[in-house]
Formats: sequence, structure tokens, C-alpha cells
Amino acid sequence: MKEIKKLNITKSRDLFEEAVALIPGGVLGARKPADFIDGEYPIFLETGKGCRLTDVDGNEFIDFLCGYGPIILGYREDEVDEAVYKQIRDKGFCFTLTQKYQNLLAKKLTELVPCSELSIFLKTGSDATTASIRIARAYTNKLKVMRCGYHGWHDWCVEMKGGIPAKLFEDVFEFQYNNLDQLKDLMATHGDETAAIIMTPFGHPNHEKMQIPNPGFLEGVREIADRYGAVLIYDEIRTGFRLSMGGAQKLYGVTPDLSVLGKAIANGYPISVVTGKKDVMMAASHKLFISSTFFPNSDAFVAALKTIEILERDNVLENIWEKGERFIKKIQAAIDKHDVGAELTGVAPMFYITFKKDETGAHKGKRKDFYTQLIRRGFFFSPFHHGYISFRHTEEDLELTLNAIDESLAFTKQK
Ligand SMILES: Cc1ncc(COP(=O)(O)O)c(C=O)c1O
Repeated sequence: MKEIKKLNITKSRDLFEEAVALIPGGVLGARKPADFIDGEYPIFLETGKGCRLTDVDGNEFIDFLCGYGPIILGYREDEVDEAVYKQIRDKGFCFTLTQKYQNLLAKKLTELVPCSELSIFLKTGSDATTASIRIARAYTNKLKVMRCGYHGWHDWCVEMKGGIPAKLFEDVFEFQYNNLDQLKDLMATHGDETAAIIMTPFGHPNHEKMQIPNPGFLEGVREIADRYGAVLIYDEIRTGFRLSMGGAQKLYGVTPDLSVLGKAIANGYPISVVTGKKDVMMAASHKLFISSTFFPNSDAFVAALKTIEILERDNVLENIWEKGERFIKKIQAAIDKHDVGAELTGVAPMFYITFKKDETGAHKGKRKDFYTQLIRRGFFFSPFHHGYISFRHTEEDLELTLNAIDESLAFTKQK
């Protein structure tokens, strides 16, 4: 097995050392070295184009993180960026009043997303999940929330509870994806006081294997929400405009009352959405206040409209599913061949290679070896987060990646 040298990441390390004196922890959240493999991965990037990244030391990578999800087309997608430059140059994007693009985007969503009748637009996924809970509470006049999945960094749902008064999350209960009995039990106790059930319609728990819905799971949750009069919210921040143009709700044929979208809708520009049934959404017009200085800025609306236009025109999601199916089938064949305890989960547009958990903790060493080999070979995956495929990954990029996965599995086995 060819020995692959560690990457030179000197400039990344120097910038990080400078950053820790300026910014608590140097970089925020899931961008920290510990969220990859400390000492092996770059920390600062210089540029990206298509599916390729270059870090500040000049190392080049084929990327599968896609900016943690928003990059559905590719980095620096010219048509989207040009539409935004034109908007900024010719019309302007930050005003006291609203520009017309919100109407165009809301209309488009009603065509594409099954639950969409009315929409409100915000900036981040966390903005949207939090707004959806507030709307559900105002609509039902109830307090409690059942949740499944990661919903962002806000007080009611974030995992690390530092700095948050318990009263802000003590009415929120978590259930596991595909565990209908657990939700039934929770609702037997709290159902009459429950405002909302919020869940990712496709299972992508942090750091864990991905899960498609068991037969009857989504239908069962829908039925429980209806029985207790709770608002069913799909958190489609990752799956919206990725699994299908109508999200996982369209793919799996179960329609929630509300849905939140973000990430891929605008290929990297900051915009998120709460969209849903008129009677529930109307609570946002007279029972509560949602407003923020930058929410109406039109640059991100223009980016979303152009991204959706390209997704439809170029059949982007079909392209991703097709090449992705071939790709993940070959990954599975490599995993079977090397038999080192690797496991592939997910679906073609979103997939994850993990290692079978083992009491001795050997899986952690395998994970470290495997992902170290990949990054050294120039393939940017995360050991702690699933990958994505974008439109700009070519068949050749995927073949190069398969070769690297094969070699990295062989290395992990031999070690
Ligand atoms: C399913 C889901 N919901 C909500 C969020 C929060 O979005 P944001 O990071 O834009 O606040 C994320 C972010 O990764 C997410 O994956």
C-alpha cells in the first residue's frame, strides 16, 4: 500500500492560532478541528469552484460536504452568482420595504412543496425551525413539543445546554427516528398539551447512521399528530430541494402541516422558509411577531429563484440520484470486498460511511484511519457528518473518489 504523506496545513494552523486569540475557540461550532481529524484536515479554505476546494496552503480536494448542505449545484455557480450581482448592481437588495421576489418564491413553493399554501422567509434554518414552533404554539394554544433530529442552535432544541434556562426547553421531548412506540408513549402522557411534533422526515441524526423511514412510520406519526390535534412539522432543512423538488414529503408521500426549508434552496445564499397550511400559517399574521432587519433582503430571494429555475431546467435532482445510485452501489461493493466493519447508510443524494460500533472502541480507530487516508488523498469527507453529492460532481470525479475509498478501506484493513 502506497504511503500517503500528511498534508501540509501550516498556513491553516497559523491562521487558527491567530484566530483563537480573536474568536472564542478560533472558529465556530462544527468548523472546529475536533469536528474532523485534528492535525490532518485544513481549517481555512481559500476558494471553491464546482465540487472542488482549495485550502489556504494550496491543497486541493474533491468535496462531499457541500458547505454542510446548501451547495446543491456547485461552488460559485456562475448563473446564480450573476443573477445576484445583477440584482445588487441594478436594483439594490436591502431596503426599508419589501421587493416583489417574496411573492414569486412563495408562489413557486406552492407549486412544488405538497404542504405549501402560505410561506414566510427568514435567513437560517434555526430561524425557521424556531418560527415554526412559535406558529404551532400560537395556533394550538398549547405548549409542549415532540422533536426528532437536529433543528439548530436555538434555546429550545440545542444539545449543549450552557447558558439556557431550563424553562426554555423543559417542555420539549425527544424521540428517536423510526421509533413510533416511543412517540406513542410520550403522546399518551403529554399529547393533550402538545402543540407540535417536529421531525426530519428522513433520518439523519448527528454523527449516527442515516435511516430511511420504516414502512408505516411517517404515516403513524401523521396519525398521532391528527389524533391529538398537534401540528406536524417536517424539518426539511437538509432534504428540501435535495431528495426531491418537493422534499422528503413528496418522495415519501406523507404531507405535514408545516415544513421548514433552507440550505439547498439558494445554493449557498442565506434564506430559509416556513411554509404550510393556510389555517396554521395565518397564526403568524395576527398572533405573533416575526421580523428581522435582513429577512426581506432580495439577494437571497433572487438566488433561490435562479437555483430553483436551474434545478428544474437541468433535471438536477434526477442527475444526482442517477449518478449517486451508481456511486453508492460501488461504495457498497468496496465495503463488502474489504470487510473491515464499514457501513454505508443513506440514499444517493445523502450518504454516510460509518464503522460498526464495537465495545473495545476499535471503530473509532478505523474511522480515524479511513478518513485520514481520504483527506490525505484529496477527498473532503467528514468522519462525523454524512456526505452530499452535487450537480457538479462528474462521473470522473466519482470514479476518482471510488478509487480513493477503495484504497482507504484497504489501508484501514491492513493496519
Ligand atoms: C435538519 C436541520 N434543521 C435545522 C438546522 C439549522 O440550520 P442553520 O444551521 O442554518 O441554523 C440544520 C443545520 O444543519 C439542519 O440540518
